[in-house]
Amino acid sequence: MKEMESRPHFLISLFLLLLASASSATPASPKDYTFDTPPPPPPVAAENTTLEYMDPTLPPLLPTKNPQCSLQLLQRDFASRARSQPEFFSYTPPDNCPSPWSRVVLELSASASEVQKDRIAAIWVAGAEILRTSTPFIMAPNVFWRVRKDVTRYTALLRRPTRFFMMFLNDSNATLHGVYSVNVSLHFYRGAVGQFNAHPVIRGLYPQPADLIIPISRAAGDATAGPGYWFRITNETDICTRTVLIPNNTYRAVLEVYVSHHGDDEYWYANPLRSDDVGAAGGDDLASKKPNGGFRQVVATIDGRYVGSVVPFPVIAPGSVNPFFWAPIAAIGAYDHPSYDLELTPFVGKLLDGRPHEFGLTVKESQPYWLIGANLHLWLDAWSDEVKGELVRYKVPPLRLGQQADWKNAEGKSEMEGQVIIRFSGWLSSSNGNVTTSVRHKLKFKTHVEVEEKGAMKSAEMEIKARTNLRIEKDHVVVARVVVETESPLNLVTVISNGGGGSRIRKTKLFHEMIEARSATEGKAGEWFSTITDRQESEGSVLIGEDSQLVWGSGDTKSTYKFRDDKKCYLRTVNMVGGKVEEDEESSSCIAAGFMALLVS
Ligand SMILES: *[C@@H]1O[C@H](CO)[C@@H](O)[C@H](O)[C@H]1NC(C)=O
Ligand SMILES: *[C@@H]1O[C@H](CO)[C@@H](O)[C@H](O)[C@H]1NC(C)=O
Ligand SMILES: *[C@@H]1O[C@H](CO)[C@@H](O)[C@H](O)[C@H]1NC(C)=O
Ligand SMILES: *[C@@H]1O[C@H](CO)[C@@H](O)[C@H](O)[C@H]1NC(C)=O
Ligand SMILES: *[C@@H]1O[C@H](CO)[C@@H](O)[C@H](O)[C@H]1NC(C)=O
Ligand SMILES: *[C@@H]1O[C@H](CO)[C@@H](O)[C@H](O)[C@H]1NC(C)=O
Ligand SMILES: *[C@@H]1O[C@H](CO)[C@@H](O)[C@H](O)[C@H]1NC(C)=O
Repeated sequence: MKEMESRPHFLISLFLLLLASASSATPASPKDYTFDTPPPPPPVAAENTTLEYMDPTLPPLLPTKNPQCSLQLLQRDFASRARSQPEFFSYTPPDNCPSPWSRVVLELSASASEVQKDRIAAIWVAGAEILRTSTPFIMAPNVFWRVRKDVTRYTALLRRPTRFFMMFLNDSNATLHGVYSVNVSLHFYRGAVGQFNAHPVIRGLYPQPADLIIPISRAAGDATAGPGYWFRITNETDICTRTVLIPNNTYRAVLEVYVSHHGDDEYWYANPLRSDDVGAAGGDDLASKKPNGGFRQVVATIDGRYVGSVVPFPVIAPGSVNPFFWAPIAAIGAYDHPSYDLELTPFVGKLLDGRPHEFGLTVKESQPYWLIGANLHLWLDAWSDEVKGELVRYKVPPLRLGQQADWKNAEGKSEMEGQVIIRFSGWLSSSNGNVTTSVRHKLKFKTHVEVEEKGAMKSAEMEIKARTNLRIEKDHVVVARVVVETESPLNLVTVISNGGGGSRIRKTKLFHEMIEARSATEGKAGEWFSTITDRQESEGSVLIGEDSQLVWGSGDTKSTYKFRDDKKCYLRTVNMVGGKVEEDEESSSCIAAGFMALLVS
């Protein structure tokens, strides 16, 4: 247990302009990357706040015996210029521990000299994204944080010398003087993998990393949307495409999508649905610019045909809702945004005609703007020059959303809900035999927004449930089944009161959770399952000045992360009160899970 003492009240004079998402609706002009806000008053550092910011998740799962080597790839200061300045850096595989590796872990460690707004950043290898991350919303000097991510699934890109690329969007210290000092390293491991069998992200369908990864990202050098390989989507008709030719011996394909929401859609998950044209969602701070409801769906296409979709988990940006909730505990997924795997194996037969095909990505109902990109992971049959296949079933009914809205001026409520089941299957004949892969994807979605007391009280509830079943058959016998289930409830309640002199006090309560359960039965490998439950509960207030700037605030967050599989359990509970971590406990025993008092971190 960490020390407990009565907490000082946070009084931080920040000027940060964060509440009204200030972006203009004009897409992709270089102007978007400059700041025209006046210089801020000097910030006052919070006393006794925790300087290490963190995201309580599963610690990296490393092999127990470690012929290990580490490479530092980058050491640089970002945000030290007037404009976004990306960085290319070269990579050569380590001589002293050659591939294959049982694990590769990416480590990003960073510190900020002074206060700085939160930023979105990413790292790409040969144009393929391997990390999407947000930087903390920095309220005191000398904050530091670290992100460790298992990147074993990108091994195919790391076997040869290549180039890495990293950038922070809106990277600048012109307005706020905080400069990020960033180190990026890779750690390579060989040998048996201990503790957990594999990281849940990797375990499952693809115990072996793909043989080839083709980025479905913006071509380098196209600077019209600012630097970076991500596509910038401003509306649903804005479909970003990339044409690719896949090898003739491909026998498996997965599209991994990275996505984040910004600007007018920063608060899409709490967006009401109104038919009247109330600009900026009726003056509601925590809403999108237009009140088109809180449903967004990332859709992937091949040659214009739907091949998969996902309702993204709404990662809350560190400067969103109440930045004091996220200092020092990050919102779920903020430092390591989840990516989404779409199983494309049934479509591989169609792609094996020796011709290029167009992969497309868009976000339904989106408002400016979303940053999106994908990696096409391909597994190749080393024992054949040609794999043949066919798509035999394709059932993609439209997702019909039930909508209800009842508004009278500032008050009212709206609801959207929908459900859809999608099925496709295809066979592929390779050296592995004639294998049929069938995918069944079920999505259930519901959102409810209610505003009362002349706009002073708002509650937003969202529930996303998805279930993907995968069945693999060989000679009409089922050889493997995999089920991936995700559930992400969100509940946000805000109450606004008069703070005097044109200011407002906003009290917020937030509940957010990400649950992911995977299970499989495979011939020889037997059965296994794993579940992750990542939950946060936050409560606090902010004082918003007349000019929509944040004057002060406070926040408490309780974060619980639990991982469990057929062999092990891991639990971490972090309790943050007023910027101080008052409890931080870890357990590797599920039996003890209910008796946290016995455990030491
Ligand atoms: C970058 O800055 C522009 C203009 O100030 C703003 O519209 C946009 O939302 C910012 N983007 C991010 C990711 O912070
Ligand atoms: C900050 O911590 C120091 C040392 O623990 C203590 O003496 C001081 O009173 C604390 N300040 C506040 C405002 O709580
Ligand atoms: C931004 O950072 C650079 C490098 O650290 C520094 O030289 C410059 O003075 C900074 N600009 C401002 C406005 O603080
Ligand atoms: C980056 O690495 C250098 C040298 O290896 C170290 O001195 C520095 O503290 C590191 N910075 C961060 C933010 O980890
Ligand atoms: C959608 O986005 C595209 C590309 O940015 C733009 O050309 C088009 O005008 C937008 N459509 C609407 C309805 O805003
Ligand atoms: C792949 O298959 C197509 C059509 O079957 C053929 O035209 C092409 O030459 C093949 N490519 C290679 C590299 O074998
Ligand atoms: C593979 O199996 C499917 C369905 O069982 C069948 O329709 C197809 O003709 C087979 N393909 C080959 C090359 O044997």
